[in-house]
Amino acid sequence: MNKKKIANIPFGPYITVLAGATVKGKPNYATIGAYGVVSQKPVLYISLKNTHCTTSGVLENGFFTVNIPSSGAVEKTDYCGTVSGNKVDKSEIFESFYDEAGNAPMIKECPVNYLCKVIQIIPIFDFTMFIGEIVAVYANKDCLENGRPNALKVKPTVLMDSGYFDLNNRVGSIFKTCKGSR
Ligand SMILES: Cc1cc2nc3c(=O)[nH]c(=O)nc-3n(C[C@H](O)[C@H](O)[C@H](O)COP(=O)(O)O)c2cc1C
Repeated sequence: MNKKKIANIPFGPYITVLAGATVKGKPNYATIGAYGVVSQKPVLYISLKNTHCTTSGVLENGFFTVNIPSSGAVEKTDYCGTVSGNKVDKSEIFESFYDEAGNAPMIKECPVNYLCKVIQIIPIFDFTMFIGEIVAVYANKDCLENGRPNALKVKPTVLMDSGYFDLNNRVGSIFKTCKGSR
């Protein structure tokens, strides 16, 4: 068998995203891998360490954003995951914009942005999982195909173990590839 048992920890892959919140009136962003969907309902979760600056902003306002950076922005993305808004002002790293549906900042430079209203909070270990209803979605016009974001244009950054990776090819189409057509 071409299998080896390795450490019981999550290695990924995940998509690298920037979680955003307003903290004391200013935008703050933290890089996270712990984000995802619970179903096809318009709901996303993020999981943030309790001591993060972003966590205090989500608790303060009841809103968070999920911003999908392109792999070309990996330097800024890594920086937002390396320094804390508790010590360094990260409000000027990206240009922010807002939607009237809720007080949390979105990043102009990120091709896809989700604004979420917190609907459930789950404490786990020293983290908090925020489950949020999606109340607004923005996408760069040049990343859309038939009105929907195209992964090869968005160029998300995949995170696995200690590395960042980009996406190169489309290898199939949902519900079609099984029938031999892409
Ligand atoms: C690639 C990467 C992924 C990360 N994933 C998470 C995560 O899923 N949850 C989390 O709480 N922190 C995560 N972090 C750590 C935070 O981004 C980091 O501690 C950041 O400084 C917190 O910023 P803040 O205090 O301004 O909110 C990650 C960092 C990196 C570089």
